[in-house]
Amino acid sequence: MSTDAARRSFTVAITGASGALYATRTMAALLERGCHVELVVSDYGRRLLRDELGETASVDRMVEFLVAKHGEAVRRGSVTLYSNKDLGAKIASGSQGCEGMVVVPCSMKTLAGIAHGLSRNLVERAADVMLKERRTLIIVPRETPMSLPQLKNMVLCAEAGAMLMPAMPAFYQMPKTLDDLANFMAGKILSALGFSHDLYPAWE
Ligand SMILES: Cc1cc2nc3c(=O)[nH]c(=O)nc-3n(C[C@H](O)[C@H](O)[C@H](O)COP(=O)(O)O)c2cc1C
Repeated sequence: MSTDAARRSFTVAITGASGALYATRTMAALLERGCHVELVVSDYGRRLLRDELGETASVDRMVEFLVAKHGEAVRRGSVTLYSNKDLGAKIASGSQGCEGMVVVPCSMKTLAGIAHGLSRNLVERAADVMLKERRTLIIVPRETPMSLPQLKNMVLCAEAGAMLMPAMPAFYQMPKTLDDLANFMAGKILSALGFSHDLYPAWE
């Protein structure tokens, strides 16, 4: 798949918190809409993808995984995969055209790094770029229970302009499967990025 400057472009960062399914559903939904996804995955993000979704959920063959699970419409979009160590990557700079970023799921470690502007790796640096450029940054933290430092880190991120969207799927939609739960979170993320969708039924 090739990069097309005319596509809407979003960074998806996957870190080592539980909930890999939220990440793959979000990616599939963006690709189905013809978006370009700048993908960066931490080492533990790679591990969680495999642990929770199986060996076929390999980062290097992510598009094939998404097509197998969600269908050919995923091929409408395009993906560029970056190393989390590559602080010279395009998304490490504010001059690139990426309009928003989602960290899904976001570990407490990465949350802390973003909250304190550490930029120790590409996930943290790309998030820092979103904050400094006043672009959309959605953080999907997952941990329970949470310590006071973790809660404070969420507040710091919110004060800096990020949207905190804890991985808390609702049950009033009567979910039947894990995919229903993932659809709910991916739908919330898509709404926050300004897309219409039918990933979960509208509340009536
Ligand atoms: C199976 C497994 C599940 C984990 N789940 C979580 C989690 O839900 N939330 C979290 O903050 N950390 C979780 N961790 C710990 C993080 O992966 C760990 O802190 C890691 O250093 C995060 O690094 P990263 O943010 O660079 O991905 C988990 C680790 C493993 C191995």
